[in-house]
Amino acid sequence: MDWTRYRDEMPITRRWAFFDHAAVAPITARAQRAIHEWAADMADNGDVMEHRWVRRIEEVRALAGRLLDADPVDIAFIKNTSEGIGIVAEGFPWKPGHNIVTAAEEYPANIYPWMNLASRGVEFRAIPSRDGRIWIDDLRSAIDSRTRLVSLSFAEFASGLRNDLDAVGALCRERGVFFFVDAIQGLGVLPLSVRKTPIDFLAADGHKWLLGTEGAGILFVRRELVDMLHPVGVGWNSVIGARNFGKIDFRLKPNAGRWESGSLNVGGIAALGASLELLLEIGIPAIQGRVIELTDYLCERAKTIGLEGYSSRRPEDKSAIVSLVCPQADPIQLVRRFKKEGVVINQRAGRLRVSPHFYNTQTEIDRLIDLLQHT
Ligand SMILES: Cc1ncc(COP(=O)(O)O)c(C=O)c1O
Repeated sequence: MDWTRYRDEMPITRRWAFFDHAAVAPITARAQRAIHEWAADMADNGDVMEHRWVRRIEEVRALAGRLLDADPVDIAFIKNTSEGIGIVAEGFPWKPGHNIVTAAEEYPANIYPWMNLASRGVEFRAIPSRDGRIWIDDLRSAIDSRTRLVSLSFAEFASGLRNDLDAVGALCRERGVFFFVDAIQGLGVLPLSVRKTPIDFLAADGHKWLLGTEGAGILFVRRELVDMLHPVGVGWNSVIGARNFGKIDFRLKPNAGRWESGSLNVGGIAALGASLELLLEIGIPAIQGRVIELTDYLCERAKTIGLEGYSSRRPEDKSAIVSLVCPQADPIQLVRRFKKEGVVINQRAGRLRVSPHFYNTQTEIDRLIDLLQHT
């Protein structure tokens, strides 16, 4: 595959060697055009062409369905991952004494909504990592008869550890526990099928590996569980006859659509759709192969200059995030200094975090290694 032909799809490449997709990623040229088109239409025509955007939203839902291997009606557009987690955390039929299990190294988005349930008598269990990883045996030991839900990231934001969703999902099924996945650090670079992997709920915003904007994300709710959740945030758009404004008929949509309470972020969804088209055109398995190739190269080169990789390089653990230990220098200073040189990385948990996407090149990695070598 000639990956360089995709460089033109990413305007960021003109100015930066950008390795920070695990934070806020650049949008694609297609997404930029989609936003321009939407903005121009809104400015020129107001709601005259509304039907066109209503149709586009459904097209983007279908693309999201392809991404997750889900029926599109089981996907709702949300404003961010946190909203999706909150929908489940707040709507779940908790009883005092129930508990929720997650990992201590999770991003705060997957911590606070569950901690916030303490006032309802729900215990929060955050399992510490050992030797830099989350062990399924530790999760298993933490689950007891009062555990109702396990919530975990697709890939860990700081360490880059890819969680084995199949294994954790199977464990949850075996123990009669629901499984929530914060998928933002994997969707777009790691293949996932909610048909094959036993995931009950999933949320992700579009602003990382999906190359969309902030404020337009997706929520998947397994159809059989829709009625189990109390529908928080119900609005005009939650009901079956949402567009019949003159008639009050309180029948909620029988799927995830009930959580799209009101007007949507149409420009953001259009942008997400444009980027999804590109990602699906290339193919997520091919993208995964490419980022693994690039991150393997990065780790090998880092080793040659004496930098230790923190992220596990076991094939099943690899995501698109690489965490590097740099005892010699302050990671915050390095990130700042490299930015001045046109190379964008980040730091998390006291380590450098490098997160390339499919369009990055080995030459860009060489530039980064060169900078690291001369720190
Ligand atoms: C694992 C994880 N979840 C969620 C988020 C962001 O949450 P939200 O989409 O609510 O801003 C991040 C951002 O860094 C993340 O790494």
